[in-house]
Amino acid sequence: MSLFSGKKVLITAGPTYEPIDPVRFIGNHSTGKMGFALARAFADQGAQVYLVVGPTALSLEHPLVEVIPVMTANEMFAACQAKASKADIWVFAAAVADYRPKDVATSKIKKNEDSFTIELVKNVDIAATLGQQKRSDQFAVGFALETDQELENARGKLVKKNLNMVVLNSLRTPGAGFKHDTNKITIVKPASVEEFELKSKEEVALDILESIKTEWACLQKK
Ligand code: CTP
Repeated sequence: MSLFSGKKVLITAGPTYEPIDPVRFIGNHSTGKMGFALARAFADQGAQVYLVVGPTALSLEHPLVEVIPVMTANEMFAACQAKASKADIWVFAAAVADYRPKDVATSKIKKNEDSFTIELVKNVDIAATLGQQKRSDQFAVGFALETDQELENARGKLVKKNLNMVVLNSLRTPGAGFKHDTNKITIVKPASVEEFELKSKEEVALDILESIKTEWACLQKK
C-alpha cells in the first residue's frame, strides 16, 4: 500500500487569467500538464486529490480527483483556503499571475487612444500565504522557474514560502517546461539537491512523488 493511500492532497495547476475588461485578460502559457500528471499520480496511489485549476484545455476524470475550476489568482486562493487545513500535502504547480489590473472595465475598452496604460497591483502569493499557516504535520511543495542563480533562488523560496521542497524547472534544457510534454527537474530540499533526466511529465510526476515520500518519512521520524 502506498504511503499516500487515504491522504488528502491539494494541488494548484494551470495559469490564472486576470481580467482587463469583459473580453480581455492577462495570462500566461501554462497548460496545467504537470499539475494534472501529479493529480493522476497521487490518485492512482490512493490519495484524495483537490485539483484547483486555472483555465486549461485539459480534463481529468478519476474517482479520487475533485477538479475545482477557477479563473483568477484570488479565486484560486479562495478555493485553496477552503481545502488547505484538511489536506496533508500541498503542491503548488500553478503559474499564478503575479499582478492583476487594478481596475476591471465593466464594458469593452474601445481603441480611442494611441497609447493605453494598465495599472497592475500585486496578487496574493498563494504558496507563501498558506505557508504561514502550515502545521508541522503538513508537507508543502513549490515549483520554481529560474534563469539565474537557480539553486540559490530555489533555496530562498523554500524559506520564504515555508516549503518542504522546491521543484526547479530548467529553462536551459530544450523540451522542458511550458507547452512541452517533457520536463527536466532538480528537486531542492533543505538538506539535499537531486537532479533528474529529461522525462515525460508523467514520469516526472512519479519522481516527485517518490521524493516527497522520502522527505515526508524523514520528517515524521523527527
Ligand atoms: N506561487 C503562488 N502564488 C503566486 C505566485 C507563485 O502560489 N502568486 C507559487 C507557484 O505556484 C510556485 C511558487 O510559488 O510553486 C514559485 O513561483 P515563482 O513565480 O517562481 O516565484 P515568485 O515568488 O513569484 O518569485 P519570482 O517570480 O520573483 O521569482
